[in-house]
Amino acid sequence: MAKVIFLILASEIILLLSILSSSGLIQCFGEEDDHGFVRTLDPKLLGLSARKEKLSHFQVYWHDIVSGRNATSVRVVQPTNLTATGFGLISMIDDPLTEGPKLSSKMVGRAQGFYALSSQEEVGLLMSMNFAFTQGKYNGSTITILGRNTVFSKVREMPVIGGSGLFRFARGYVQARTHTFNQKTGDAIIQYTCYVFHY
Ligand SMILES: *[C@@H]1O[C@H](CO)[C@@H](O)[C@H](O)[C@H]1NC(C)=O
Ligand SMILES: *[C@@H]1O[C@H](CO)[C@@H](O)[C@H](O)[C@H]1NC(C)=O
Ligand SMILES: *[C@@H]1O[C@H](CO)[C@@H](O)[C@H](O)[C@H]1NC(C)=O
Repeated sequence: MAKVIFLILASEIILLLSILSSSGLIQCFGEEDDHGFVRTLDPKLLGLSARKEKLSHFQVYWHDIVSGRNATSVRVVQPTNLTATGFGLISMIDDPLTEGPKLSSKMVGRAQGFYALSSQEEVGLLMSMNFAFTQGKYNGSTITILGRNTVFSKVREMPVIGGSGLFRFARGYVQARTHTFNQKTGDAIIQYTCYVFHY
C-alpha cells in the first residue's frame, strides 16, 4: 500500500516538475534544449562564490611620453583640418605605469591601447586601454578601462569594464588626476586611483 502511494506521489512530482520546467519557472540543471549552445554553470565550478568577491584599491602613475626618441605615445590618425579641440586625433599608447610619480619609480605595468579626441566642444578623450600588470602575483593580469576623459577637469572618472587573470569578472572605476602636464612637450603624468571588484 505504502509503495503504491509513493509511486503515485512520485509520478505527480515528476509531472509538476515537467510543467514548471516547460513554463520556464525552474531550470533543470544540465538540460540543454535543441539549439542550446549556452549552459548555466554553477559558479562554484569556477571556484567562485558571492562571498569571495573582493574590492581592490590601488594607485598608479601613467606616463604619456609624446616627445623625444623614447615616446610611448604615437599619433596614428590626424585629421586634415585640425580644430582647437583636436577633434579626430587618435594616439596609440604603451605607457609605463609606476608606483610613484617619477618615471624612475617602481614599474608595475603598462597602459596599452589608444585614446581618441572625440569632443568638438572641449578637449575630451575616449580612452580605451588595458592596464597590463607585471608585478608579483599580478604579473600577466589586466584590467580594461573604457571611458570619457575631459583632460582639463580636475577629476575624470572612467569605468573599469572587465579584466583577466586575478581580475576576472572585474568591474569598477578609476579616477584620473593630472599630476604634471608639460605644455611645451605635451608629456603628461597622470595619477590613476582604481577601485575594482573582482574574484
Ligand atoms: C631613451 O632610452 C634609452 C634607454 O633607456 C636612454 O639611454 C636614453 O637616454 C633615452 N633617450 C631619451 C631622449 O630620453
Ligand atoms: C580644410 O580647411 C580649408 C580652409 O579652410 C578648406 O578649404 C578645406 O575644404 C577643409 N578641408 C576639409 C577636409 O574640411
Ligand atoms: C612576468 O611574467 C613574464 C611572462 O611569464 C616573465 O617573463 C617575467 O619575468 C615576469 N615578471 C616578473 C616581474 O615577475
